[in-house]
Amino acid sequence: MARRVLLQLDADSQPSTFDAIVAVDAGVDVLLRHGGVTPEAAVPLVHGGMFTRGGKDLSSTAIFVGGSDVAAAEAIFRTVQKTFFGPVRLGVMLDPSGANTTAAAAVVVAGRHADLAGARAVVLGGTGAVGRRVARLLARERCRVAVASRSAERAKAVCDSVAEAVENAQLTPVAAQSDAGTLHGELLDCLAEADVVIAAGAAGTRLLSGECLRQCVKAKVFVDLNAVPPEGIEGIVATDAGRPLTAERPSAQPPAVAYGPIGVGGIKMKIHREAVQQIFHSNQACLDAEEMLEIGRAFA
Ligand SMILES: NC(=O)c1ccc[n+]([C@@H]2O[C@H](COP(=O)([O-])OP(=O)(O)OC[C@H]3O[C@@H](n4cnc5c(N)ncnc54)[C@H](OP(=O)(O)O)[C@@H]3O)[C@@H](O)[C@H]2O)c1
Repeated sequence: MARRVLLQLDADSQPSTFDAIVAVDAGVDVLLRHGGVTPEAAVPLVHGGMFTRGGKDLSSTAIFVGGSDVAAAEAIFRTVQKTFFGPVRLGVMLDPSGANTTAAAAVVVAGRHADLAGARAVVLGGTGAVGRRVARLLARERCRVAVASRSAERAKAVCDSVAEAVENAQLTPVAAQSDAGTLHGELLDCLAEADVVIAAGAAGTRLLSGECLRQCVKAKVFVDLNAVPPEGIEGIVATDAGRPLTAERPSAQPPAVAYGPIGVGGIKMKIHREAVQQIFHSNQACLDAEEMLEIGRAFA
């Protein structure tokens, strides 16, 4: 069997060391790291992978598209797929800034505690790279999703783009803050009805106070993805991994559970490693957030 060669295509000038180390841990033999990649520059790099190996050895070359600029990575990912033709393809995955693997892991853990089909979910920080994907994955699971943002326009733009991608998606854009800087009444109403609350705000931003958490009277699971203090949801500890919130919400029966960023991170890493392995299983493999959620179900 030919050695496994991974082309790491990264729009940043220095390709991510994190993604490189995970690739090695996932069993890649040779890692070719390319930084500053643009869609145009990706074409000859992809050709180099497509035309060197034939037959079953073709699936021993694969492509990882990443980097901190999510839109740039998405453009490279589209170009990579357009560069393939006929059966001459390579396995490929997209995970810029860990957004796909993180969103998939968040939805996997939420699904452990709530039947997502028909559930009501609130995605706080729903306009970021991770939040948009969480909203898309939850909508595909038939959740009724409220996408919260400090800007009603940005929340609506995310809902419109998810609605284009997901047939019959049930989405509500919600402004997170009132003019006085407190949580908007509309968001409080959504939180009071929510089964699932996922906070995907920027690192170091508090989106929900402990008092507001107590007002989420129906919630079965809270997921906070922010690892930089203060916590995105007050009281959720980074290492929480299904911790019952008995002290925080004593009246809730059964108690809601909490996941923090490290609690979710374990599954995220498993999804990442498994995804790297799967792009070598078949040269037809093409992994975006949805396929990573499928991978994550095995770790549920
Ligand atoms: N555990 C892991 O493995 C892992 C991996 C990747 C990311 N993460 C974490 O996941 C979270 C989301 O990542 P991301 O890249 O999607 O984040 P992001 O794009 O930086 O921010 C997400 C959203 O947060 C909102 N926001 C920004 N500054 C804010 C402020 N001062 N107050 C309130 N809201 C604010 C913005 O929404 P609006 O402007 O529309 O309000 C923004 O779209 C981050 O905390 C990140 O660190 C964790």
